Amino acid sequence: MKILVIGGTGTIGSRVVNELKKRHSVLTAGRSQGDFIVDIENEKSIVDMYAKCGKLDAVVVTTGKVVFEPLQNMNLEKYLVGIHSKLLGQVNMVLKGVSYMNSAGASFTLTSGILNHDPILQGSSAAMVNGAIDGFVRAAAIELASKSIRINVVSPTVLTESAAAYGDFFRGYKPVDAAEVALAYSKSVEGAQTGQLYRVGF
Ligand SMILES: NC(=O)c1ccc[n+]([C@@H]2O[C@H](COP(=O)([O-])OP(=O)(O)OC[C@H]3O[C@@H](n4cnc5c(N)ncnc54)[C@H](OP(=O)(O)O)[C@@H]3O)[C@@H](O)[C@H]2O)c1
Repeated sequence: MKILVIGGTGTIGSRVVNELKKRHSVLTAGRSQGDFIVDIENEKSIVDMYAKCGKLDAVVVTTGKVVFEPLQNMNLEKYLVGIHSKLLGQVNMVLKGVSYMNSAGASFTLTSGILNHDPILQGSSAAMVNGAIDGFVRAAAIELASKSIRINVVSPTVLTESAAAYGDFFRGYKPVDAAEVALAYSKSVEGAQTGQLYRVGF
């Protein structure tokens, strides 16, 4: 398969690339490095990236930012960061990517996270965006099925590799290794399921 991993140089994405490149041709895209440069918040940039990539068998998105702050400090501008980046950035990867997918079993795999299921302090934006991504994937799956395109979402708990950065937010949570998270992406890309939410570590 020819697979594009957007965010493929990141903590999760690099492990997904390592897992999938054992068996497939894997291309990466990121804002500052990778085989293709793309900004998921910029529609023209997404369109240009797909045009350069050509036809694909799978698109995996492992990127998107949100603001972590106490509710009392949040405002609409801060919520819009997560909406424009993690939510609509991933949604637009699907909308603009559909016409580049090869037929029969091609797939999109998006990334959400634990926080809409098991919330933490300062995580209201992450919870909101993750819930929206999970809902989008469930609904999009029933329409993409008519094109024989699959779509799933991977929802990890905090990663072992990110514990130093985020550990204080996640006291009492058992981290999961990125290599284990990568297996959920493998299941999505190399399996046959669609409309699924793959929770990892919770
Ligand atoms: N790490 C965790 O514990 C964890 C747990 C659950 C969910 N998640 C979710 O998983 C996703 C990835 O997390 P991560 O920890 O792997 O992130 P990361 O290590 O910060 O990596 C982010 C990746 O995305 C790329 N990127 C950043 N901004 C971009 C943009 N505007 N357009 C295109 N690419 C962009 C980066 O490339 P450049 O370096 O070139 O900018 C990098 O490859 C996030 O949505 C996060 O919320 C993470």
